Amino acid sequence: MPSLPPPWDDYLRRIELAASAQELDALEHELFGRKAGALTVALGTLGALSVDEKKVQGPLLNTAKQELTNALMSKRKNLSQTSWQSLETDDTLDVSLDLPEKEHGHLHPIHEFMEKIEEVFGRMGFDSARGPEIESEENNFNKLNIPADHPARDSQDTFWISGMKDHVLRTHTSNVQIRYAQKHKPPFRMICLGKVYRKDSDATHSPMFHQLEGMMIGKDVSLANMKAVMETAVRELIDHNAEFRWRTGFFPFVEPGLEMDMRWRGDESKSREGKWLEICGCGMTHPNVLKNCGIDPNKWQGFAFGFGIERMLMIKHQIPDLRLFYSGDLRFLKQF
Ligand code: DAH
Repeated sequence: MPSLPPPWDDYLRRIELAASAQELDALEHELFGRKAGALTVALGTLGALSVDEKKVQGPLLNTAKQELTNALMSKRKNLSQTSWQSLETDDTLDVSLDLPEKEHGHLHPIHEFMEKIEEVFGRMGFDSARGPEIESEENNFNKLNIPADHPARDSQDTFWISGMKDHVLRTHTSNVQIRYAQKHKPPFRMICLGKVYRKDSDATHSPMFHQLEGMMIGKDVSLANMKAVMETAVRELIDHNAEFRWRTGFFPFVEPGLEMDMRWRGDESKSREGKWLEICGCGMTHPNVLKNCGIDPNKWQGFAFGFGIERMLMIKHQIPDLRLFYSGDLRFLKQF
């Protein structure tokens, strides 16, 4: 233990007795503070002393400065070690204790499924496109070969935007066929995922729901190609053992038009065969649609399809009511 003359011996003792880092900080300030620190002030007055006094006070103050700095440093080290020791021996705090696992959130099942869809079609070479939810009558209906007297145009089914002439909340994602085909030269393959709106509301219909649209145009793209793409995708997305049934169906923008059904055994107890559920409309793109997009139907042909995403998820997970998806009920959402 070094010894220093007064008043520095007293500081040494107080450093030795300090019980916390804060106490040490205060002492350090008291000694070395830039303006009023005791040592700072003492060193500052050296210049005014006589030569003889300087010879005595100079080395003395330097020693004091050195010793006090050392004492502060070693005490600081000392204090941080003891605080770790007390952590280890304090039996009320077990640092190895397993805490309950933190709950992690996840994407909404619809969003998660849409990412999976993009991945599956991406592997088959499909570009992923987006389009607006407020759409012109031209893109939502006219260019898709949907005539003015088509029931889809009835205000019973469609949300027309007041104050925006000839605009609707898009009733399907087929508007993106038009937007994409006008911008891209064939051959191309694209899908579009997004929200669509209709005046519907019950257990299997909601005024807002999600669709998956697809389109593939090339020199000799056929119905057989369409079947292969769609069956591959649905097997991958919903069920590897899925069985399909194809029926003719009418949509103004395809010719011929088809509907794809999937056998669903969700209620096996009722029937061993299960039942056929329609999951998609599709067909060969109508020549008028190609023409409306500036594509020569004598050179190019292809197919298009439209799935309801909620419908696919309801089949995949046997969900009875589509409104559950939008309820925000964590008991439902946590099951995914
Ligand atoms: N747009 C149709 C609907 O919402 C679904 C549809 C049917 C999309 C046939 C297509 C298609 O691309 O070829 O009901």
